[in-house]
This record gives sequence, C-alpha cells and structure tokens, in this order.
Amino acid sequence: MNKIAILTSGGDVPGLNACIRAIVKAASYYNINTLGIKGGFDGMINGDFTVVDVPSVNHIIHLGGTILKSSRSDRFKTEEGRKTAYRQLNEVGIDAVILIGGDGSLQGGRIFSEEHKDIPFMGIPKTIDNDISGTDYCIGYDTAINTAMEAIDKIRDTAESHNRIFIVEVMGRNAGYIAYGTGLASGADGILIPETPADLEYLKNSFTKDHNRKKNSLIIVVAEGDESGGALIIAEKVRKYAARRDVRISVLGHIQRGGSPTAFDRILAARLGVAAVENLLKGEKNRMVGIIKNDISVTPLADVKNRSMNVDKDALKFLEILTT
Ligand code: F6P
Repeated sequence: MNKIAILTSGGDVPGLNACIRAIVKAASYYNINTLGIKGGFDGMINGDFTVVDVPSVNHIIHLGGTILKSSRSDRFKTEEGRKTAYRQLNEVGIDAVILIGGDGSLQGGRIFSEEHKDIPFMGIPKTIDNDISGTDYCIGYDTAINTAMEAIDKIRDTAESHNRIFIVEVMGRNAGYIAYGTGLASGADGILIPETPADLEYLKNSFTKDHNRKKNSLIIVVAEGDESGGALIIAEKVRKYAARRDVRISVLGHIQRGGSPTAFDRILAARLGVAAVENLLKGEKNRMVGIIKNDISVTPLADVKNRSMNVDKDALKFLEILTT
C-alpha cells in the first residue's frame, strides 16, 4: 500500500483534526503517503485533493472543526457521482480511503466499495449524536456533552437567581445520548429522550413533587428528537403545570459541535486513527474501527447501523433516582 486518502464527511465534530493527525502520523510511520480530500465526498467527486504530511498536521490536535472541511453530499448518493469519484481516486493513485464519518457517510463508503472493489474503505465513527453501532463511543460525543454541561451550569445560575424553570434543548437527532449524558452530568431535574415514552406525565409528577424537594429552580433537558416535539412545545405544557414559575427556553444548537476536543475525544481519535491504518495494512477491507469495552473493534461496514439508546428498566430507575 502506497497512498491512502483521508476524508471527513457529514457534520463536523471536535476531534476530527486529532484523528487526521493520528492517521497521517501512523501512515508516515509505515512509509505510506497520505492525501487529504477536501470538502468530504463532494471533494472526492471534484478531485479536490491536498497533500497532508506530518508537518501539515503539527499543532492541530486541539483544534475544533476539520482542516479538510466537510459536506453532506447529494452527488455521492448517485451512481454517476460515485463513478466520477472513483476515476478521480484512480488518477492520483489512491490504494485505500479512510473515511471519518457518521452513519450516512459510512453507508456511502460501503456502497462505493461494493461497486469499486479495488479501493477499500476503512471507516472511523464520528458524530456528536453517538448513534452508530459497532462502537461504544463516536468521536465528538464526549466534547459535545461537556460543552452542553458547561452551558447548563451557567444557565443554572440564572434559573436559581430568578426561581425559574429552564427547558434546555440539545442536539442528537433521533437518539437521546446527548440529552442523557448532559442531563446526568448537569444534575438536571428532568431528562426527556426519544427512547422513553410518557415523558410528560413523569414531568407533571416531578413538578408536583418539587415543592417538597425545596427546589427553587428546575432544569429540564430535552433531546431535539424527543416525541414531545422539542423545547417550545414542552415549555407550553410546562407553563400549565407550573403557573407560578417563569419558564424559559434555551436551544443550545451548534455550540455543541464546536470547540477544542476533550482529552477523551483526542485519545479516542488517536486510537481510532492509528487502528484504521494498521487494519488496512493487515488487509482488512470495508470495515469500521471502533471502541468496545475499551478495546479496538473492527466491524464490517455492512453491519454498521444507526442506533438508539437501550433504555431498560434499570436505566429508567437510575434516571428516576437522580431526577427526583
Ligand atoms: O448529526 C449531528 C447533528 O449536529 C445533529 O445532532 C443535528 O440534528 C444535525 O447534525 C444538525 O445538522 P446541520 O448542521 O446540518 O444543521
């Protein structure tokens, strides 16, 4: 293997640069050249390549975003787009592609590698939503929940000073990982996630109890994909239960995607970056490297799926203990 291409695809997350750095360093260690694809799959189709060598990844480990830029590509979803991308990769002599992406991007990589068998793909999972099977953690999730936790710590100051109820909406698409992690870490008084039904009944009970708990303020964390419909709708309902209190909404939005990665995300990115290169060298093809029980896992791209949280009875009880 002489030349590996690297691309970042889909929504950016903190830790992408740390991962690019690890891939380039590992490739260089094994005497393999690396080429960066700029702007995700669109860049692959356009032949927008740039040399990424060891000097070019100096001092980027702490930076958010991606030096390679990213996109959500519609053209790569077409066979024509993928054929053009294949021609572009061939022209510059690419032997394999390392794709740092979310579920949609990894599926795109799988389809490409089924159509063009001589250019294997190795996937690395990244998404703040943490909703990809085949790994316990995706790059970006830990930083996102730390960012959201820090924001909520600040919101709590206002909530407490003014005896208010705050409904804080976090990202996560159809999965509750961000709301669950952020809610637990910030000591939220309610956590609403898509994986659990009957949230509103539970909240209503929680409000009737809050008097006994001597709480002046409440923080409710709601996942954007919760069946209740998000912070605005929850706030309307909560106003009916809690007429005596001011209710405010805070939608944290894209601050959850930016900033310097946590140590956890940097180390995860480093481990997965090196594992991706080493597994390609071992002859693994069309796989995703991940972390399961703190060991590197290797999963066929065909088995990688979008996942939701598994909230069993014990998990519900755990939530109840901590939010009541
Ligand atoms: O998948 C990551 C994510 O940040 C989701 O949590 C969110 O729903 C979505 O991307 C936002 O996408 P965009 O940046 O395209 O608005």
